[in-house]
Amino acid sequence: MKSPETKKKAKTDMRKRRNPVAVFDSGVGGLSVLPELIGRMPREDFVFFGDAANAPYGERSAEEVRRLTDDAVSRLIANGAKAVVIACNTATSAAAGYLREKFPAVPIIGMEPALKPAAEAGDHPRVVVMATPLTIREEKLRALSDKLRDKADFVFVPCHGLVEAVERGEVEGDGTLSLVREILVPRLEGADSIVLGCTHYAHVRRVIAEVAGPGIMIFDGAGGTARETERRLSEADLLTDSEEKGGITLLSSSRDPDYSRIMEKLLARQVEK
Ligand code: DGL
Repeated sequence: MKSPETKKKAKTDMRKRRNPVAVFDSGVGGLSVLPELIGRMPREDFVFFGDAANAPYGERSAEEVRRLTDDAVSRLIANGAKAVVIACNTATSAAAGYLREKFPAVPIIGMEPALKPAAEAGDHPRVVVMATPLTIREEKLRALSDKLRDKADFVFVPCHGLVEAVERGEVEGDGTLSLVREILVPRLEGADSIVLGCTHYAHVRRVIAEVAGPGIMIFDGAGGTARETERRLSEADLLTDSEEKGGITLLSSSRDPDYSRIMEKLLARQVEK
């Protein structure tokens, strides 16, 4: 017979396994990662939080982004998240290491910009990396590109204004097309591929592909992050034991009454893809 202690532990473990996975971004960017997570782990419950009131993170200092990410992630964990996916390259660069030290018992998974698959997809390709100004300044991206220096040339493009357009739900149309043209066209000469180094940019992938034209491959880190999340949950024995399809809760800090509609629209568009 199981002792009351063992029974109690089994119950706690089950409750933990059935707790939600939190997905965090500065706004709607992480909604481009969420469908990959759901596709891999359809029985998990996901709670998404976009810190829209403080976006864009990419134009802030690393200290500010660390503080904002710490506030949001600490709240998500206090509310029962069994793991946290930081579905934001900027917040990953500024805060993932710090948060892993602060919460050693909680799997915290960050974004890895897809430089490696892009570098390995050709014979010393020229890879255009679109990212926020803060991600480009931070050590993480530098270290990764230094490691791959023998395999590819990297061109880093800070994309001012693009996150703001996506936050307004402007993921197609003339305004977004001219903004992407203005950002990309001067950097495209000789390019073999583009890395989307910010999760917001995946929402404008079609516009980016139109500006880039045929023959330029586009990479993002969503699939790799979803794979890594599943691996980390399994390693920690935290994958759900529920047989049912999981639920999705979308939350944000936005004060815009239209923001929930924008979130739902962008998520639906990504799922349709
Ligand atoms: N989505 C975030 C990223 O992946 C950044 C957006 C922002 O600047 O707030 O980098």
